[in-house]
Amino acid sequence: MSLFNVYPLFDITPVSAKDLYVYDENNVEYLDLYGGHAVISIGHSHPKYVSAISNQVEKLGFYSNAIQNPLQVKLADKLEALSGCKDYQLFLCNSGAEANENALKLASFHNGKKKVLAFKNSFHGRTSATVAATDNPKIVAPINAQQEVDFLELGDLDAVETVLKQNETCAVIVEFIQGVGGLDQSTTEFYQGLDKLCKQYNTSLIADEVQSGFGRTGDFFAYQKHNITPDIISMAKGMGNGFPVGGILIHPSIKASYGLLGTTFGGNHLACAATLSVLDVLEEEKLMKNAKNISDYFQEKAKSLPNLKSIKGRGLMLGLEFKFPISELRKKLIFDHHIFTGSAKNPNLLRILPPLTIQKKHIDLFFDATCKVLKTL
Ligand SMILES: Cc1ncc(COP(=O)(O)O)c(C=O)c1O
Repeated sequence: MSLFNVYPLFDITPVSAKDLYVYDENNVEYLDLYGGHAVISIGHSHPKYVSAISNQVEKLGFYSNAIQNPLQVKLADKLEALSGCKDYQLFLCNSGAEANENALKLASFHNGKKKVLAFKNSFHGRTSATVAATDNPKIVAPINAQQEVDFLELGDLDAVETVLKQNETCAVIVEFIQGVGGLDQSTTEFYQGLDKLCKQYNTSLIADEVQSGFGRTGDFFAYQKHNITPDIISMAKGMGNGFPVGGILIHPSIKASYGLLGTTFGGNHLACAATLSVLDVLEEEKLMKNAKNISDYFQEKAKSLPNLKSIKGRGLMLGLEFKFPISELRKKLIFDHHIFTGSAKNPNLLRILPPLTIQKKHIDLFFDATCKVLKTL
């Protein structure tokens, strides 16, 4: 049987990993500044994470959501304490798209409306409603295109009000720093205005923190910089450090009822053990503070790179926008210098999404290699 060929692959086969480093079958070491697409938060195979999952699977890996699962309650309490999202409610699922799909569905249940407002260059996932709210027609199948979505320019509050006024929009979904789209972000003034308009027109504000959440920007969630109150916050990626887990935090004004949402695998014992250990390590190793410090160091060093147009993003969700397409640079970083980085929809943008345990010496390695490559291009 062949694999359904949907991924263009680099010819590298990782077989093990430790903190910032990934090793292939010939024991070649790669510096991971991509984190498997912003997934690795506390470092590859962190010993606490490994023992949390191993211990849990020995006891009980899975049982359904029809029984008491104290690990979910413990996780909700720990998340509340660390994120500062007081009195929000937690619903657990398995991926980022699933988190956003549930968020959109819940918003629609809550206010009875059915249109969605999203922003140009957004990426929210590949399931039915999330792909419709993603600004990339190439990945929207006819069956998904039934969903009515207005795409507006990020930052255009007047356009937002014109749409919300029609009283048909159940949710505004927004990445406070765009991921796949290329690390654009708007101003605090815009986000506060958006929050206000959502409240005024009874529309749920969904903060898509799938990529930016769990400390990546130096704050627990990226929206927190703007002092607003989303109705629903979606999470995944760094939440499980590679274990597939996602979830939404739901404002107390939205009430639960039996059967409203549901999932077989979501919130299983292993996923809870993985996420709890991620939260413990984030706290114990002060990784959000590290994200801020290393980000400052990175941004300072980046200023001296030749041919750089801009430095984008925040914390350890960073992008270097060059004046030329970065595909050759990225390839040479991987194959000549053994450094993984990421790309974006913007062909000139190199993305840096490392584990939050990264140190200055890793940043130095990256800039040394990048300067060498830039001289050859
Ligand atoms: C902001 C954002 N939302 C949602 C998703 C979808 O997450 P998943 O691939 O886990 O379904 C992604 C994935 O890249 C993302 O970056």
